Amino acid sequence: MKIDIVSVFPEYFDVLNLSLFGKAQDKGLVEVHAHNLRDWTHDVHHSVDDTPVGGGAGMVMKPVVWSECLDDLLGLEPAVVERTMGADDQADREAEYASATEYAPATTYSPNRPILIFPNPSAPLFTQRDATELSRADHLLFGCGRYEGYDARIPEYYRAQGIDVREYSIGDYVLNGGEVAVSVMLEAITRLLPGFMGNPDSIVEESYTGEGALLEHRQYTKPAEWRGIRVPDVLLSGDHGKVDRFRRDEALERTAQIRPDLIAALDCTALNKQDRKT
Ligand code: ADE
Repeated sequence: MKIDIVSVFPEYFDVLNLSLFGKAQDKGLVEVHAHNLRDWTHDVHHSVDDTPVGGGAGMVMKPVVWSECLDDLLGLEPAVVERTMGADDQADREAEYASATEYAPATTYSPNRPILIFPNPSAPLFTQRDATELSRADHLLFGCGRYEGYDARIPEYYRAQGIDVREYSIGDYVLNGGEVAVSVMLEAITRLLPGFMGNPDSIVEESYTGEGALLEHRQYTKPAEWRGIRVPDVLLSGDHGKVDRFRRDEALERTAQIRPDLIAALDCTALNKQDRKT
Protein backbone atom coordinates (compact mmCIF):
# COMPACT_ATOMS: atom_id res chain seq x y z
CA MET A 1 0.00 0.00 0.00
CA LYS A 2 1.26 3.45 -0.89
CA ILE A 3 0.53 6.23 1.62
CA ASP A 4 1.06 9.95 1.06
CA ILE A 5 0.51 12.41 3.89
CA VAL A 6 0.40 16.19 3.53
CA SER A 7 0.98 18.30 6.62
CA VAL A 8 2.65 21.50 7.74
CA PHE A 9 4.47 19.29 10.25
CA PRO A 10 5.68 16.34 8.14
CA GLU A 11 8.34 15.53 10.78
CA TYR A 12 5.47 14.45 12.99
CA PHE A 13 5.33 11.24 10.93
CA ASP A 14 8.98 10.30 11.52
CA VAL A 15 7.66 7.96 14.21
CA LEU A 16 6.28 5.75 11.45
CA ASN A 17 9.83 4.47 11.00
CA LEU A 18 9.56 2.78 14.41
CA SER A 19 7.98 -0.40 15.68
CA LEU A 20 5.66 -2.57 13.58
CA PHE A 21 5.07 0.23 11.07
CA GLY A 22 8.83 0.57 10.52
CA LYS A 23 9.10 -3.18 10.00
CA ALA A 24 6.19 -3.12 7.54
CA GLN A 25 8.03 -0.45 5.55
CA ASP A 26 11.21 -2.54 5.58
CA LYS A 27 9.22 -5.54 4.34
CA GLY A 28 7.75 -3.42 1.52
CA LEU A 29 4.16 -3.81 2.77
CA VAL A 30 3.73 -0.04 3.04
CA GLU A 31 5.51 2.87 1.44
CA VAL A 32 5.00 6.19 3.24
CA HIS A 33 5.82 9.71 2.04
CA ALA A 34 5.15 12.71 4.30
CA HIS A 35 5.05 15.98 2.33
CA ASN A 36 5.25 19.55 3.57
CA LEU A 37 2.27 21.57 2.35
CA ARG A 38 4.44 24.71 2.43
CA ASP A 39 6.45 23.28 -0.49
CA TRP A 40 3.49 24.27 -2.69
CA THR A 41 3.43 27.92 -1.57
CA HIS A 42 4.98 30.74 -3.60
CA ASP A 43 5.06 33.68 -1.22
CA VAL A 44 7.99 34.60 1.02
CA HIS A 45 6.07 33.66 4.16
CA HIS A 46 4.98 30.26 2.81
CA SER A 47 1.50 31.03 4.09
CA VAL A 48 -1.11 28.28 4.01
CA ASP A 49 -4.01 29.97 5.81
CA ASP A 50 -6.17 33.07 5.72
CA THR A 51 -9.00 34.66 7.71
CA PRO A 52 -12.47 33.06 7.52
CA VAL A 53 -14.84 34.57 4.98
CA GLY A 54 -17.85 35.84 6.91
CA GLY A 55 -15.74 36.55 9.97
CA GLY A 56 -14.96 34.55 13.07
CA ALA A 57 -11.96 33.48 15.07
CA GLY A 58 -8.92 31.63 13.79
CA MET A 59 -7.56 30.91 10.34
CA VAL A 60 -8.70 28.62 7.54
CA MET A 61 -6.38 26.69 5.22
CA LYS A 62 -6.37 28.15 1.73
CA PRO A 63 -7.74 26.14 -1.18
CA VAL A 64 -5.15 27.52 -3.58
CA VAL A 65 -2.16 25.98 -1.82
CA TRP A 66 -3.95 22.69 -1.18
CA SER A 67 -5.06 22.40 -4.79
CA GLU A 68 -1.56 22.84 -6.20
CA CYS A 69 -0.35 20.15 -3.81
CA LEU A 70 -3.24 17.75 -4.39
CA ASP A 71 -3.19 18.16 -8.18
CA ASP A 72 0.46 17.08 -8.07
CA LEU A 73 -0.01 14.15 -5.73
CA LEU A 74 -3.22 12.93 -7.37
CA GLY A 75 -1.64 13.15 -10.80
CA LEU A 76 -4.33 15.52 -12.04
CA GLU A 77 -3.65 18.10 -14.71
CA PRO A 78 -3.12 21.39 -12.91
CA ALA A 79 -6.15 23.55 -13.62
CA VAL A 80 -3.90 26.60 -13.44
CA VAL A 81 -2.46 28.36 -16.49
CA GLU A 82 1.32 28.67 -16.86
CA ARG A 83 3.26 29.10 -13.63
CA THR A 84 5.11 32.12 -14.91
CA MET A 85 4.19 34.83 -12.45
CA GLY A 86 6.67 36.41 -10.06
CA ALA A 87 6.81 35.04 -6.54
CA ASP A 88 5.50 38.32 -5.12
CA ASP A 89 2.44 38.31 -7.37
CA GLN A 90 0.67 35.91 -5.06
CA ALA A 91 -2.68 37.76 -5.03
CA ASP A 92 -2.85 37.92 -8.86
CA ARG A 93 -1.76 34.36 -9.05
CA GLU A 94 -4.47 33.21 -6.66
CA ALA A 95 -7.16 35.11 -8.57
CA GLU A 96 -6.00 33.60 -11.84
CA TYR A 97 -5.79 30.15 -10.36
CA ALA A 98 -9.24 30.42 -8.81
CA SER A 99 -10.89 31.39 -12.08
CA ALA A 100 -9.06 28.61 -13.91
CA THR A 101 -10.37 25.92 -11.59
CA GLU A 102 -14.05 25.97 -12.48
CA TYR A 103 -14.96 22.38 -12.92
CA ALA A 104 -17.44 20.05 -14.49
CA PRO A 105 -18.58 17.43 -11.98
CA ALA A 106 -17.44 13.89 -12.74
CA THR A 107 -19.98 11.10 -12.58
CA THR A 108 -17.78 8.19 -11.53
CA TYR A 109 -14.73 7.71 -9.31
CA SER A 110 -11.33 7.12 -10.88
CA PRO A 111 -10.25 3.70 -9.62
CA ASN A 112 -6.58 4.35 -10.34
CA ARG A 113 -6.31 7.44 -8.19
CA PRO A 114 -5.59 7.41 -4.46
CA ILE A 115 -8.44 7.74 -1.97
CA LEU A 116 -8.18 11.22 -0.49
CA ILE A 117 -8.83 11.39 3.26
CA PHE A 118 -9.23 14.49 5.42
CA PRO A 119 -9.52 14.20 9.21
CA ASN A 120 -12.20 16.59 10.38
CA PRO A 121 -13.90 16.81 13.81
CA SER A 122 -17.19 17.68 12.09
CA ALA A 123 -17.25 14.57 9.88
CA PRO A 124 -18.75 11.08 10.38
CA LEU A 125 -16.97 8.87 12.88
CA PHE A 126 -14.12 6.67 11.62
CA THR A 127 -14.92 3.06 12.53
CA GLN A 128 -13.38 -0.40 12.23
CA ARG A 129 -15.56 -0.91 9.18
CA ASP A 130 -13.88 2.07 7.48
CA ALA A 131 -10.45 0.78 8.51
CA THR A 132 -11.23 -2.61 6.99
CA GLU A 133 -12.49 -1.11 3.75
CA LEU A 134 -9.53 1.26 3.41
CA SER A 135 -7.04 -1.53 4.14
CA ARG A 136 -7.99 -2.96 0.73
CA ALA A 137 -6.94 0.20 -1.14
CA ASP A 138 -3.65 0.44 -3.05
CA HIS A 139 -3.01 4.10 -2.39
CA LEU A 140 -4.22 6.53 0.31
CA LEU A 141 -3.57 10.26 0.42
CA PHE A 142 -4.15 12.00 3.77
CA GLY A 143 -4.45 15.78 4.07
CA CYS A 144 -3.90 17.16 7.59
CA GLY A 145 -5.81 20.35 8.38
CA ARG A 146 -4.66 22.83 11.06
CA TYR A 147 -6.10 25.95 12.62
CA GLU A 148 -9.90 26.18 12.09
CA GLY A 149 -9.71 23.59 9.33
CA TYR A 150 -9.59 23.73 5.53
CA ASP A 151 -11.73 25.55 2.97
CA ALA A 152 -14.88 23.44 2.41
CA ARG A 153 -14.52 23.70 -1.36
CA ILE A 154 -11.41 21.47 -1.36
CA PRO A 155 -13.22 18.14 -0.80
CA GLU A 156 -16.10 19.34 -2.96
CA TYR A 157 -13.80 20.11 -5.87
CA TYR A 158 -11.90 16.81 -5.78
CA ARG A 159 -15.10 14.79 -5.47
CA ALA A 160 -16.29 16.53 -8.60
CA GLN A 161 -13.03 15.48 -10.30
CA GLY A 162 -13.94 11.85 -9.70
CA ILE A 163 -11.67 11.39 -6.67
CA ASP A 164 -13.00 9.24 -3.83
CA VAL A 165 -12.81 11.81 -1.01
CA ARG A 166 -13.48 10.84 2.60
CA GLU A 167 -13.74 13.03 5.69
CA TYR A 168 -13.62 11.38 9.10
CA SER A 169 -13.65 12.36 12.76
CA ILE A 170 -11.80 10.08 15.16
CA GLY A 171 -13.95 11.09 18.13
CA ASP A 172 -16.09 13.74 19.76
CA TYR A 173 -13.30 16.07 20.81
CA VAL A 174 -11.23 18.69 19.02
CA LEU A 175 -7.50 18.26 18.38
CA ASN A 176 -5.08 20.97 17.28
CA GLY A 177 -4.72 19.47 13.83
CA GLY A 178 -5.24 16.38 11.74
CA GLU A 179 -1.83 14.80 12.38
CA VAL A 180 -2.85 12.76 15.42
CA ALA A 181 -6.09 11.73 13.73
CA VAL A 182 -4.17 10.54 10.65
CA SER A 183 -1.82 8.52 12.84
CA VAL A 184 -4.79 6.86 14.51
CA MET A 185 -6.47 6.02 11.20
CA LEU A 186 -3.21 4.84 9.66
CA GLU A 187 -2.52 2.44 12.49
CA ALA A 188 -6.07 1.06 12.40
CA ILE A 189 -5.85 0.57 8.61
CA THR A 190 -2.34 -0.77 8.13
CA ARG A 191 -2.41 -3.34 10.94
CA LEU A 192 -5.09 -5.11 8.86
CA LEU A 193 -2.74 -5.55 5.90
CA PRO A 194 -1.87 -9.21 5.34
CA GLY A 195 1.58 -9.82 6.83
CA PHE A 196 1.58 -6.68 9.01
CA MET A 197 0.81 -8.40 12.32
CA GLY A 198 2.91 -11.24 13.63
CA ASN A 199 -0.19 -13.27 14.53
CA PRO A 200 -3.14 -12.52 12.23
CA ASP A 201 -5.55 -14.40 14.57
CA SER A 202 -5.34 -11.55 17.06
CA ILE A 203 -7.10 -9.30 14.55
CA VAL A 204 -10.02 -11.69 14.03
CA GLU A 205 -10.82 -11.90 17.76
CA GLU A 206 -10.63 -8.21 18.54
CA SER A 207 -13.22 -5.69 19.67
CA TYR A 208 -15.17 -3.96 16.91
CA THR A 209 -14.32 -6.68 14.39
CA GLY A 210 -16.80 -8.78 12.46
CA GLU A 211 -20.56 -8.85 12.13
CA GLY A 212 -21.62 -8.54 15.73
CA ALA A 213 -19.14 -5.88 16.87
CA LEU A 214 -18.72 -6.31 20.64
CA LEU A 215 -16.13 -5.14 23.11
CA GLU A 216 -13.57 -7.85 23.66
CA HIS A 217 -13.61 -10.11 26.75
CA ARG A 218 -10.90 -9.38 29.32
CA GLN A 219 -7.49 -11.05 29.03
CA TYR A 220 -5.21 -12.65 31.64
CA THR A 221 -1.77 -14.23 31.61
CA LYS A 222 0.24 -16.26 34.16
CA PRO A 223 0.50 -16.55 37.14
CA ALA A 224 -2.99 -17.93 37.87
CA GLU A 225 -3.02 -15.97 41.13
CA TRP A 226 -1.40 -12.56 41.53
CA ARG A 227 -1.58 -10.40 44.65
CA GLY A 228 -4.53 -12.45 45.88
CA ILE A 229 -6.54 -12.12 42.67
CA ARG A 230 -7.24 -15.32 40.73
CA VAL A 231 -7.99 -15.55 37.03
CA PRO A 232 -11.50 -17.00 36.44
CA ASP A 233 -11.34 -20.78 37.08
CA VAL A 234 -13.00 -21.65 33.78
CA LEU A 235 -9.99 -20.28 31.89
CA LEU A 236 -7.80 -22.87 33.65
CA SER A 237 -10.22 -25.74 32.95
CA GLY A 238 -8.82 -26.70 29.54
CA ASP A 239 -12.41 -27.01 28.25
CA HIS A 240 -12.34 -24.91 25.08
CA GLY A 241 -16.13 -24.93 24.69
CA LYS A 242 -16.59 -23.52 28.17
CA VAL A 243 -13.81 -20.99 27.69
CA ASP A 244 -15.40 -19.75 24.44
CA ARG A 245 -18.82 -19.50 26.08
CA PHE A 246 -17.40 -17.63 29.10
CA ARG A 247 -15.60 -15.15 26.87
CA ARG A 248 -18.60 -14.57 24.64
CA ASP A 249 -20.87 -13.98 27.68
CA GLU A 250 -18.36 -11.56 29.11
CA ALA A 251 -18.12 -9.70 25.80
CA LEU A 252 -21.92 -9.37 25.65
CA GLU A 253 -22.18 -8.25 29.30
CA ARG A 254 -19.37 -5.71 29.08
CA THR A 255 -20.73 -4.29 25.84
CA ALA A 256 -24.21 -3.93 27.34
CA GLN A 257 -22.73 -2.10 30.35
CA ILE A 258 -20.10 0.08 28.68
CA ARG A 259 -21.38 0.58 25.12
CA PRO A 260 -25.15 -0.04 24.95
CA ASP A 261 -25.10 1.75 21.58
CA LEU A 262 -23.17 -1.22 20.14
CA ILE A 263 -25.78 -3.66 21.46
CA ALA A 264 -28.54 -1.54 19.93
CA ALA A 265 -26.72 -1.65 16.58
CA LEU A 266 -26.04 -5.40 16.78
CA ASP A 267 -27.01 -7.55 13.84
CA CYS A 268 -29.36 -10.04 15.56
CA THR A 269 -28.53 -12.75 13.03
CA ALA A 270 -24.98 -12.71 14.47
CA LEU A 271 -26.33 -13.95 17.81
CA ASN A 272 -26.59 -17.67 18.47
CA LYS A 273 -29.11 -19.55 20.61
CA GLN A 274 -26.88 -19.48 23.68
CA ASP A 275 -26.42 -15.72 23.34
CA ARG A 276 -30.16 -15.22 23.48
CA LYS A 277 -30.23 -16.83 26.94
CA THR A 278 -27.73 -14.34 28.43
N1 ADE B 1 -9.02 17.44 13.75
C1 ADE B 1 -9.23 18.03 14.93
N2 ADE B 1 -9.95 17.26 15.74
C2 ADE B 1 -10.23 16.11 15.04
C3 ADE B 1 -10.96 14.93 15.32
N3 ADE B 1 -11.57 14.74 16.50
N4 ADE B 1 -11.04 13.99 14.38
C4 ADE B 1 -10.46 14.18 13.18
N5 ADE B 1 -9.76 15.27 12.86
C5 ADE B 1 -9.63 16.23 13.78
